[in-house]
Amino acid sequence: MSTLFSKIYDPIMRPLEKKRIGNIRKRLVSPQKGIILELGSGTGTNFSYYKNAEKVIAIEPDSSMRNQSLPKVKSAGVPLELVDASSGHLPFDDNSFDTAIGTLVLCTIPNPNRALQEIRRVCTSGAPILFLEHVRVDRPLLGRLQDWLTPFWKRLCDGCHLNRHTLDLIKQNGFRVERIEKHYKDILLVVEARNEN
Ligand SMILES: C[S@@+](CC[C@H](N)C(=O)[O-])C[C@H]1O[C@@H](n2cnc3c(N)ncnc32)[C@H](O)[C@@H]1O
Repeated sequence: MSTLFSKIYDPIMRPLEKKRIGNIRKRLVSPQKGIILELGSGTGTNFSYYKNAEKVIAIEPDSSMRNQSLPKVKSAGVPLELVDASSGHLPFDDNSFDTAIGTLVLCTIPNPNRALQEIRRVCTSGAPILFLEHVRVDRPLLGRLQDWLTPFWKRLCDGCHLNRHTLDLIKQNGFRVERIEKHYKDILLVVEARNEN
């Protein structure tokens, strides 16, 4: 992972966060209760939105991202623990979380199937599993543009794939999808699912 990406991430995202994405995050994150797992928390953009959680455990494998997020860990309004871990091997017992949240992360995780299976394992049965993810769209031109751009984009943005079929991956890994909200011409999805352990 590059230190540069972690440094430029917030400035690049700021206009989008202000315009629309910040509100989407707030609506997704703020109501969640209990013990919450956040995957790939990056610079900690979601941290200030937690209002009702008993505790948040955020995992982030990139030390530079973790360091960027430390001020937001301290100012979070709920107990929040930041853990150096990767989605492939979550260092938690089975059934230890009431909810899992991932935002703009399944695009980057090298093995999203493995990550989703780990989420299933560590979350209780029926737990809300919530994602805000950009995905490959079904439209021929835009979809092919996403395919074409992905090799360059991956190098620029630390492994981010523009063309993952993330909604299919969520369904294929045994989650029951209950609600989908579409933004930016269907590129950005809010996916509210349940663990079906
Ligand atoms: C595009 S950033 C998104 C950060 C944050 N979730 C957000 O909404 O702004 C993707 C994040 O996924 C993290 N990541 C990459 N591989 C991962 C893995 N195997 N497990 C957990 N996080 C991972 C990266 O380090 C990075 O912080």
